[in-house]
Amino acid sequence: SIADLKGMKQGKLSLAVITTAKYFVPRLLGPFCKRYPGIDISLKVTNHQNIQERMINNQDDLFIFSQLPSQPDLKTYPFLDNPLVVIAPTDHPLASKKNIPISALNNEPFIMREPGSGTREAVQKLFAANDVDVKVRLELGSNEAIKQGIAGGLGVSVLSQHTIISEGTSGEFAILDIEGFPIPRQWYVGHLAGKQLSVVAESFLKYLLEESPALAKQFLPGLGQPMSGKEAAP
Ligand code: PGA
Repeated sequence: SIADLKGMKQGKLSLAVITTAKYFVPRLLGPFCKRYPGIDISLKVTNHQNIQERMINNQDDLFIFSQLPSQPDLKTYPFLDNPLVVIAPTDHPLASKKNIPISALNNEPFIMREPGSGTREAVQKLFAANDVDVKVRLELGSNEAIKQGIAGGLGVSVLSQHTIISEGTSGEFAILDIEGFPIPRQWYVGHLAGKQLSVVAESFLKYLLEESPALAKQFLPGLGQPMSGKEAAP
């Protein structure tokens, strides 16, 4: 409609997304911005706790997350898998083993995300349910820093498969076949339940839900597969 076109000529879109969505959302924004060049986009990338605070303060139009917050009230739409996997260096002794019991992690130095991370929350929940008590050697507030720590031999960690899937670096890492993993999760896009979305936000929401399966096929072909570092090497 004419109203839509007017609304789309210019406008602002404010997005806040969890750390792992940075591997995917910017790729979607490219074609969206080409289609609607007059739009200013701000993209905030942070952990779940900070996203929840931004929700409560009504700071953004749309949010992307994986752990559903207890509050505020949201309207949510799942759009892609975001599994958590155990990542080790390719030369790790467990990399060649199958069906490893989760208790094996008790003996592994572990690199853990910071408090406020949804990854950390999901990992701690699984460990608590299975009486696993890992030796946390290092706590780091960044998936990328954790990957460097793993590559450097500091320990193993649990991260979203997206942290290694969408880059050419996956040959450095192996996904360990440990009982209880992958932890199945999804990305959701959502907004405050009571919020009237702008035309721009509505269009991006629709675009994200429509385009993400095709983009995932193109850029994330190994998603959900029990990929090993070796198989993933180019
Ligand atoms: P986090 O979220 O940065 O809060 O850990 C990432 C994820 O859950 O995929």
